[in-house]
Amino acid sequence: MTNQSPIEMNKNRIQIFDTTLRDGEQSPGAAVDSGRKIVIARQLAKLGIDVIEPGFPISSPGDFAAVQQISRELQNVEIAGFARCMRPDIDAAVRATEDAARRRLHLFISSSDIHLDFQMRKSRDQVIQMARDMISYGKQFVDEIEFSAMDSTRTGHEFLITMVEAAIEAGATIINMPDTTGYAMPHEIEELFRTVRREARGADKVRFSAHCHNDLGMAVANSIAAIRGGATQVEVTVNGIGERAGNCSLEELVMAIETRKEALQAETGIVQAEIFNTSRLVSRTMRFPIAFNKPIVGRNAFQHESGIHQDGLLKNRNTFEIMDPEAMGIPRSMIILGKSSGRHAIKHRLSEYGIQVSDDQMQGIYERFIEIADVNKIVTDSELVRITGEATETQ
Ligand code: KIV
Ligand code: ZN
Repeated sequence: MTNQSPIEMNKNRIQIFDTTLRDGEQSPGAAVDSGRKIVIARQLAKLGIDVIEPGFPISSPGDFAAVQQISRELQNVEIAGFARCMRPDIDAAVRATEDAARRRLHLFISSSDIHLDFQMRKSRDQVIQMARDMISYGKQFVDEIEFSAMDSTRTGHEFLITMVEAAIEAGATIINMPDTTGYAMPHEIEELFRTVRREARGADKVRFSAHCHNDLGMAVANSIAAIRGGATQVEVTVNGIGERAGNCSLEELVMAIETRKEALQAETGIVQAEIFNTSRLVSRTMRFPIAFNKPIVGRNAFQHESGIHQDGLLKNRNTFEIMDPEAMGIPRSMIILGKSSGRHAIKHRLSEYGIQVSDDQMQGIYERFIEIADVNKIVTDSELVRITGEATETQ
């Protein structure tokens, strides 16, 4: 028995499916050599990810070996083997994941007319048949089959429902409806998930998943909308890396759910304290910088320049912060002081280093602090400690 309240017990547990090492790696400029994928995968497991997609086994011997190594070593997390609806892809994905304690086969095929006409040059009937055949083929080896109807959000509802029904009938256990081009609006995604879940035969027997790209900056909002429409799995990448403008950002989605859990009636199994470490590890390993103003993990995300904000925060952090950065493993020293920081904030920061100063000493420190901040915009902790030393020595 747990001691959760009745409201907590009713929360929808959202599965977090991480595709940093597959879709994320498709990010222009994000490179990770296959041998280093294991380092990121270990951290993803520590972060509490439910499903890791470590690569595309058919794409290269290096990716195959990375998926195999991760499947062998990480026995406490489910591993997804990614494959087109083609036998050689499926064979490679099945072999690469065969030592995993828990695994799924992730099959995808396009569903929108624009993809069928120009990319695949196949009819609707042909792709449905391919999906059916390859799901049945994969099902001989793996029980858990995730089926993705690529470009779902630009596919007519009627055809999408037909395709989803065929996939379920052939044995798919998870249905993913990706917003491949980041085109959808939140109200449309919510409606799409509601409609397909309500109308597709067999929909009550499977889990629904969202996979949103960020071309219009909507990936997180759309993933939340999909949850409202009934999705119980969301596909994400660390730092939101991925094709073009990227995928739904793991840290933003998880913290949105955590911060607004009562409004959403949802929760994840993510270990918040590992969020910052994971973000920095991925940025370093994939040599992909994080924008200063990126929510949650950007340098400025918890930086309060204005003296009024800093003063409010020192009285009660909830005045201007809706999340606790330290709970996500973000060091307080990341919160840098700047030219509109007041004496109160400077004094408080010094006290964190065990330095107590008198009001007279503070005047000298403050004047020097403002001179530096005027030029550099920010004053680092080491500069602050240095000018404090200088100001107090001369008094
Ligand atoms: O963006 C997309 O549609 C995908 C699927 C193949 C899952 O990455
Ligand atoms: Zn994608």
